[in-house]
Amino acid sequence: MQPFSFQVPTKVVFGAGSVKNVSSEVDALNAKHVMIVTDPGIVKAGLVDKVTEPLCAAGIAYSIFDEIEPNPKTTTIIRGAEVMKEAQSNVVVALGGGSPLDAAKAVAVMAVNEGPIEDYCCAGADPWPVAPPPIIGIPTTAGTGAEVSAAAMLNLVSEHRKVDIFGDTILPVTAILDPELTVGLPPNLTAWTGIDALNHAFEAYIAIYANPFTDMLAEKAIELAVNNIHKVYKEPTDLEARGNMLIASAMAVMSAGAGLGVIHSLAQTIGGYYDAPHGLAIAVCFVPGTQYNLSVEQKKLGRISQIMGTDISGMSQAEAAKSVIPALQKLLKNLDIPTGFDSLGVKEKDIPELAKIAMLDGCTPYNPHPLDEHAFVELFQQGLAV
Ligand SMILES: [Fe+2]
Repeated sequence: MQPFSFQVPTKVVFGAGSVKNVSSEVDALNAKHVMIVTDPGIVKAGLVDKVTEPLCAAGIAYSIFDEIEPNPKTTTIIRGAEVMKEAQSNVVVALGGGSPLDAAKAVAVMAVNEGPIEDYCCAGADPWPVAPPPIIGIPTTAGTGAEVSAAAMLNLVSEHRKVDIFGDTILPVTAILDPELTVGLPPNLTAWTGIDALNHAFEAYIAIYANPFTDMLAEKAIELAVNNIHKVYKEPTDLEARGNMLIASAMAVMSAGAGLGVIHSLAQTIGGYYDAPHGLAIAVCFVPGTQYNLSVEQKKLGRISQIMGTDISGMSQAEAAKSVIPALQKLLKNLDIPTGFDSLGVKEKDIPELAKIAMLDGCTPYNPHPLDEHAFVELFQQGLAV
């Protein structure tokens, strides 16, 4: 086992209807003015009202920045930061899927720090001189776990790739997990984001910094995700299953301090290059990436297969590990996930450049089976050949 550090400082508030607690949580942070960062779809779905109504009732002033797009662009972040500066907000409420939650962290940083934003991307922990105001994360999807993550993925417009910023100062102080906010999510997005949650736990479980703390969280997250993802796909209003997926999503990201791996490297590369949705990219890359890891961490891959319902008794360790592939294929098929990287827009001619970008991905060093550019070229080729 590698030496590690582990902490889970975010306060988790869970329950159907728990979003109404946003006013007391904001108040506990001595909010003078709240900046709500979200996207246009969340506004249209009426979910912003679930936040603004309790704030209004408590007499707490707020502004809304609702321009966040999927794979949030650094140029959009700068616009949001200008709005926040103007409003002099001292608390941020991040509402939505992974994109608004991640974007809110960067907006908070850029509202109190001089740019350029490029200086803070892929630059280690808390590279900004001034700590941003506290953030409350309220997810409307169960997938990214961004509400309990100290990292944010952004689309660095100047370099045409996805980059991360991270640090304890952008870790949300509070996460409000309200399953009622996720029931309106369409089935395809429910499936894609749910697979992302499952994958965070899956990759963390075998990542190089996995340890007993992260293993415990990852195993439970995998169990909750595999037992509930099909339910929420088929029965969108099943609040218990929706709640279980939200918990799985948060637990998975709490385990991801162990690192992620090749599936995220592939998916983030494709997501940044072709603007493919993150969860869908993860789902399509899930099997090829796992195949690459079958020769390592076999005991743990066998355990995952067992949690997914495979009877591994009588199997060798290698056989048990391998059995995770059909288990995954069945799960993905039942969620109508396409196979083949062409479904994400990947083109053969781009593979050399994609492999270079994947080598720079923040998850690449944490994969249990070491990766080089040649391995990525093969993985992209295999992914296209499916
Ligand atoms: Fe992810």
